[in-house]
Amino acid sequence: MESNVNVIILAAGKGTRMKSDTLKVMHEICHRPLIDWVFDGVADLKYSQVYTVVGHDREQLVKHLGSRSKIVVEPQQLGTADAVKTVGSELSNQKGVTLVLNGDSPLLTQATINQLVDFHIKAKSPLTLLTADLKNPSGYGRIIYDKNRKFERIVEQKDASTEELTVSEVNSGVYCFDNQLLFKYLPEVNNNNNQKEYYLTDLIEIFRKHGLQPFTFKTNDSSEILGVNDLVALNNARKIIQKRINTKLLMNGVQIIDPDHTYIDCSVEVGNDTIIEPNVQIIGNTKIGSHCHIGMGSEIIDSKIHDHVTIISSLIESSEMFSCSDIGPNSHLRPNAKIGSKVHIGNFCEIKNSTIGDNSKVGHLTYIGDADLGKDINVGCGIIFCNYDGFKKHRSKVGSNSFLGSGSNIVAPVEIADHSFIAAGSTITKDVPYHALALGRARQINKENYWSKLPVANSKLWEKTEEKEK
Ligand code: UD1
Ligand code: MG
Repeated sequence: MESNVNVIILAAGKGTRMKSDTLKVMHEICHRPLIDWVFDGVADLKYSQVYTVVGHDREQLVKHLGSRSKIVVEPQQLGTADAVKTVGSELSNQKGVTLVLNGDSPLLTQATINQLVDFHIKAKSPLTLLTADLKNPSGYGRIIYDKNRKFERIVEQKDASTEELTVSEVNSGVYCFDNQLLFKYLPEVNNNNNQKEYYLTDLIEIFRKHGLQPFTFKTNDSSEILGVNDLVALNNARKIIQKRINTKLLMNGVQIIDPDHTYIDCSVEVGNDTIIEPNVQIIGNTKIGSHCHIGMGSEIIDSKIHDHVTIISSLIESSEMFSCSDIGPNSHLRPNAKIGSKVHIGNFCEIKNSTIGDNSKVGHLTYIGDADLGKDINVGCGIIFCNYDGFKKHRSKVGSNSFLGSGSNIVAPVEIADHSFIAAGSTITKDVPYHALALGRARQINKENYWSKLPVANSKLWEKTEEKEK
C-alpha cells in the first residue's frame, strides 16, 4: 500500500549501561557497528528519509552515517519522547507514516519491519507497536491491555508493579505512527516517572485519552527485538547474528564443522563444498571459492581465495590465493601477496607484497618481501629476501624454474634469471644470469688436527673424561 513513510532512528542515548568509552551504537557485531545492522532492517522499505537522532560524542557516528541519514541533534538526553520531538522541526507538517526505531536493536529483519508497516497502513491505525513474548522480559517495557483486550499502556520495568512485571509481552522499541498525530500529541508527554524521563511509550495512553486506539503487532520471532543495553546483550546479539550468517552458509553447501565457534562476517562469500574447521575467523571483503579447506584457527581478512585451496592455521591479509594452492600451518600472507595456482607455502613463512608463480614451492621458514617469483621455483628452507636497507624498500625478481638453496639471503634489488641456481648459504647481492650457479659464500677451510692445539687436549681432566667414555 502506498504511503509516505519516514524513519526516525533514536541513537542519542549515552549508553551508560555499556560502561564503555565507545558510543553504544558504534559497538561492533561481526565487524560492523550496531547502527549498520539497524539500517539493514529498513533497507527494503520504501521510505522518503531517515532521520537519526544523535547526542554527545556524535562525531564518529555522524561521519560513519554519511549521506544515509539526516542528522538531528538532541542536546540533552531527556528520554525517547524528547528524542523524537527534536525531529519535529523537519517532519511535523508532513502527512503519512513515521516509523520510529530504537538505535540499539540490531536483530530486526526487513521482513518483520515491512509486515509491521503494512499492517499499520491497512488497519488505518494511529499508532502500531511491534511487540514480542519473551521468556525473560526483564529490562523491557511491558504491554498492558484493558479488560476488553484493548492496548492500554506500556509500563517501564522501573515503574512496574510486581504483577505487571510478570507480563511476558514487551515493547520492541519499534513504532509506526500517523505522523501528524505523533507530533500533535508529543508535547503532552511529561516526565512524572521514576527515571524522570520523557517516555515515548506514554503516547499510548495519551492517544487513548483523545479517543484514538493504538494497536500492537506481535512478532513470532522474539529474538528479533533484543535491545542492546549492556555488553551481555551485545554478546547475545552477536551470537544470533553469527548463527544467521552461518546457517545461511550451511544451507548453501558450506561445511562449517562447529558453527558455534566459527566467526564469519556477513560480507563474506564462500562456495559450496568448502570445509571450515572450528575457531576460524573470516573477515570483511573476503571471497572463498568452492572445495577449499580452511583449517582450525585460520584468520582470513579482505582476501580472495580461489577454488580447491587449503589453508591450515594461517593468517591471510588482503591477499589472493589461486586455485589448488596451499599454505600452513602457521604462515602469514601480509597485504598484497599473490599466490599462484598449485603453489605450496609450507610452515612458518611470511610473504608480503610479492607474487609467487604457479607450481612454485616455498616449504619452510622463509620471508619473501617485495619480490616477483616466476613459475616452478623451489625456494629452500630459511631463505630471506632482504628488501629493506634501513631507508627504502627494494624489489627483487626470481625467474621461472630457478632453485634457491637453503639458508640464502637475497639482498634487494637483484634479478635472478630463469633456470638458475643459488647455492645453499649464499648471500646474493648481484644479478644471476640464465642457467648460472651463484655461490655467494666463503669457501670452506678445514684446519687439520685443530683439536690437539687446544690447552684442554693435554689436561688431566680431559684424559679422565676420555677414559670413562672408553
Ligand atoms: C526502551 C523502551 C522500552 C523497550 C526497550 C526496547 C522507552 C521509555 N522504553 O527502553 O519500553 O522495551 O527500549 O529495547 O522508550 N535515546 C535517545 N535519546 C534519549 C534517550 C534514549 O535517542 O534521550 C535512544 C537511545 O540511544 C536508544 C533508544 O533511544 O537507542 C532507547 O533508549 P534506551 O535507554 O536503550 O531505552 P531502554 O531502556 O532500552
Ligand atoms: Mg535500549
